[in-house]
Amino acid sequence: MVVTGGSGFVGRAVVRALTERGTPVTIVDAQEPPESVRGELVTHVAGDLTEPAVREAAVITGTSAIVHLAAITSVLRSVDQPAETYRANVEVTQGLLELARQRGVGRFVLASTNAVVGDIGHGTISEDLPLRPLTPYGATKAACEMLLSGYAGSYGIATTALRFTNIYGPGMGRKDSFIPRLMRAALAGDGVEVYGDGAQSRDFVHVDDVVTGILAACDKQYTGTAIIGSGRSISVLELIDAVRAATGAPLPVTHVPAKNGEMPAVIVDVAKAGRELAYSPSVELTDGLRTVWEDFRAITAGTP
Ligand SMILES: NC(=O)c1ccc[n+]([C@@H]2O[C@H](COP(=O)([O-])OP(=O)(O)OC[C@H]3O[C@@H](n4cnc5c(N)ncnc54)[C@H](O)[C@@H]3O)[C@@H](O)[C@H]2O)c1
Repeated sequence: MVVTGGSGFVGRAVVRALTERGTPVTIVDAQEPPESVRGELVTHVAGDLTEPAVREAAVITGTSAIVHLAAITSVLRSVDQPAETYRANVEVTQGLLELARQRGVGRFVLASTNAVVGDIGHGTISEDLPLRPLTPYGATKAACEMLLSGYAGSYGIATTALRFTNIYGPGMGRKDSFIPRLMRAALAGDGVEVYGDGAQSRDFVHVDDVVTGILAACDKQYTGTAIIGSGRSISVLELIDAVRAATGAPLPVTHVPAKNGEMPAVIVDVAKAGRELAYSPSVELTDGLRTVWEDFRAITAGTP
């Protein structure tokens, strides 16, 4: 099985789960995989996936599935560098699908995002909504989903696009998203800035649930899209309370002016993933946050 982006946050959790099942994995990633996912079942193809030779070295005949996680993942970077984002996200996905067709790979799982549907206010996001991305990042993922659909329709490859909500869990020590920032503030005894009143809501899904969804997509050979989230939206202030409960840190809040363009809510329906993939999110938020806190404390203690 090939896992692109297997050295990244989600990728290393996927690789660990696959090797625990005894599945040999080829990681293709520009970065070295961390020690925790190396082993005799793991091969690393190092290089940039925008280079055709790197893709060709990874997707060899006999590959059973491609789990495609590598991407430019930053929305802000995609706004600054739309053409580069197109190359890294869309052209790479097309190149991998083409290799899957040529080399008889029967399964392809894409890491997508709910950003493909844009801002729907306080409405509930389901897979039935039209694609209306508002950023190059969301647009490239929507384009990738369309490519998957075309390759499934024409060549019989089972292609699954999993639209993840905000993923959290161990292994996000280098990330700059809200939960790692809260963890760093908790470690330092600092406070946090909250944009606006903090009532904006988000869905946070633990990486273990994401891995379960990805493995189910591989096993069931389901073609289509499915939202993988916790199915429970909480406000930023509720999240901070949950981080206080998980860490014991006071995390005083300073309210700063709201940012233009921030979505008021992300509320998702995970029923389709339940029906098609038997997906059922299982990690409770405070328990999940404790896994992140332990990881941050281990990094600080020098034992990641
Ligand atoms: N983390 C989230 O909350 C979240 C939410 C929705 C969707 N996703 C999607 O899930 C996937 C994985 O996210 P993540 O948080 O693990 O990202 P990450 O940045 O931690 O990992 C991505 C990995 O891909 C590698 N990579 C990227 N571009 C590459 C290229 N051109 N060639 C070789 N390697 C390359 C990077 O080196 C990195 O190891 C991404 O596609 C992302 O868009 C993530």
